[in-house]
Amino acid sequence: MPRLMDIYDLNGLTLPNRTVMAPMTRTRATEDGVPTDLMRDYYVQRADAGLIITECTQISDRARGIIRAPGIHREDQVAAWRSITSAVHDAGGRIVNQIWHPGRVSHPEIMGGADPVAPSPIPAEGSFFLPSGRVHFTVPHALGIDELPGIVEDFRRATSHAKAAGFDGVEIHAANGYLLQQFLEDKSNDRTDAYGGSIENRARLTLAVVDAAINAWDANHVGIRLSPAGAHYGIADSDRPALYDYVIRELAQRDISFIHVVRPNKASYDAGPVQIEDVAGFTRQRYAGPIIVNGGYDRDSADSVIQKGDADLVAFGVPFLANPDLVARLKTGAGYNTPDPTTFYGVGPKGYTDYPALDRVGA
Ligand SMILES: Cc1cc2nc3c(=O)[nH]c(=O)nc-3n(C[C@H](O)[C@H](O)[C@H](O)COP(=O)(O)O)c2cc1C
Repeated sequence: MPRLMDIYDLNGLTLPNRTVMAPMTRTRATEDGVPTDLMRDYYVQRADAGLIITECTQISDRARGIIRAPGIHREDQVAAWRSITSAVHDAGGRIVNQIWHPGRVSHPEIMGGADPVAPSPIPAEGSFFLPSGRVHFTVPHALGIDELPGIVEDFRRATSHAKAAGFDGVEIHAANGYLLQQFLEDKSNDRTDAYGGSIENRARLTLAVVDAAINAWDANHVGIRLSPAGAHYGIADSDRPALYDYVIRELAQRDISFIHVVRPNKASYDAGPVQIEDVAGFTRQRYAGPIIVNGGYDRDSADSVIQKGDADLVAFGVPFLANPDLVARLKTGAGYNTPDPTTFYGVGPKGYTDYPALDRVGA
């Protein structure tokens, strides 16, 4: 039976172990979305991961949702990412780029005054932090049917930029309440055109994005992240088992490189009945390819989901954030650093590149 530290063949890419660094926004790019040398150091420190998935990366200048998030829509950004991917490869690692459009989870203040976009004029729930302080989400601009090819094109271009930047693949962000999940789920999508209503219609944009990315690269280099139990920013659906049954089967037909699913968290349970609890098992029943599962795993629970066969790889978020040498610590059972949430979305090296590694000589 496979174990967490066993090697894994991800469609021809050999991973030395089955740990994945989960995508995590850390706000250390420049104000205009250029990756920095500090980001390079951070990812290189974590090159022992079987696979690194980068923080969410904006696919166009209009896909802004987080201050100092990186982009992959301009040549200067591609060049900066190239120095990161080559440094990670030189350190023996592998790295995939998470490509992202936030949709309604944004604000005119970071959109140069423009309204965020969404399937329907339904605001995200809750609030978020901007330089001016805590703000509530505004009513988004409902994308016209003529605007959707532009979104697909932005994802396509981001994929070919990721390839040019030396990444080992892309992960399409269709989770955590961002644009693609806003189209998928019916609480945020009340369109009456070919992109709303039936499950097939609501999945149309996500599948068009997947097809465009596969065209730009190939199926072995295009994965996707789904959160079929997520409640981020008020995302919800009246029948998630039916929705994700369709979506996962369609992805399986396309032979996508991997499906990365996020387990329910506390917010999922607080929001109401969780319709799909065992997200990995649910996915496995419909997809025989590589499955990554994430959300609150430790060494034992990760090992057991892999041994059970419901997932091939386990992504760790906060544990990788706070432990650059997480793989060594998982192997040896050595202790873990304590994460400092006040620096998760900070500036500079504090709480970013200064978490100590174990003394490897003694490990
Ligand atoms: C600081 C921070 C930033 C995050 N940013 C992203 C992101 O950019 N994209 C994404 O899909 N998930 C993001 N997440 C969610 C993580 O990928 C992961 O799902 C979550 O931390 C649960 O996994 P864990 O229990 O192993 O930490 C973020 C989480 C944290 C803590």
